[in-house]
Amino acid sequence: MDAARGKQMDVGQIGLDRSHLPSHESGPFDARTLFANPTHAFEIEIGSGKGTFLVQQAVLQPETNFLGIEWTAEFWRYASDRVRRRELSNVRLLHTDATELFRFWLPDAIARVIHLYFSDPWPKSRHHKRRVIQDESLRHFHRVLAPGGELRIVTDHAELWKWYEEHALRNAHLFAVKPFISPDSAKAGEVVGTNFERKFAREGRPFMAMTLVRLPAESAARSTCEQSSRRSESAPPDSSSP
Ligand SMILES: C[S@@+](CC[C@H](N)C(=O)[O-])C[C@H]1O[C@@H](n2cnc3c(N)ncnc32)[C@H](O)[C@@H]1O
Repeated sequence: MDAARGKQMDVGQIGLDRSHLPSHESGPFDARTLFANPTHAFEIEIGSGKGTFLVQQAVLQPETNFLGIEWTAEFWRYASDRVRRRELSNVRLLHTDATELFRFWLPDAIARVIHLYFSDPWPKSRHHKRRVIQDESLRHFHRVLAPGGELRIVTDHAELWKWYEEHALRNAHLFAVKPFISPDSAKAGEVVGTNFERKFAREGRPFMAMTLVRLPAESAARSTCEQSSRRSESAPPDSSSP
């Protein structure tokens, strides 16, 4: 794999790695502080690949800060170099595992949108645990999204889509499913217009997309209480009690 085709890549001030993160024992890390204007709206892309969505959309939304997270060093370098050359000061790319960043670092209610486009399907059952969407990651996405925030998902993979639908149903107390609305940077006929979408479109693959809109924390708490009271109603009597 040589995304750069032998060309020298320079991540400049755009590409950051784990050394830019504080120790997670020291508490949450507010990734908005990576930007010159940390009060601007904040969006996160998980698995940015070659950075096509970021370079297309960030130029149309200069008042929004975009953090791309990419764990493959080669793609992270390529995307960072691309953003640096275009002088997009509202984009940063972090070389790390996005699920760990959410679990250990990101604080509550900081992001307006989380983008997840053409995430790896990990088709073998024993690899399903590597898929980005899990019950646990959805809880973190809910926590990190600001009120009314959105998780936007697109895939070409039928079995991964089923997984997404099952997870959305099981976590209906956290998110409402809404139709996906394409970003302004998508060209005619495109859903988002990422690299993988363009490659798969040439192969004639169909795409599935949804938006999960964050529900208020109260509905999540209410549902947890209802579940635990249902559990205690159906629990067998405690034989140790008098
Ligand atoms: C199939 S590619 C899609 C890239 C891009 N979103 C697109 O549509 O062209 C999936 C990308 O997600 C990255 N990725 C997968 N899991 C990740 C994780 N947990 N954290 C960060 N990046 C991840 C992979 O390295 C890969 O570059």
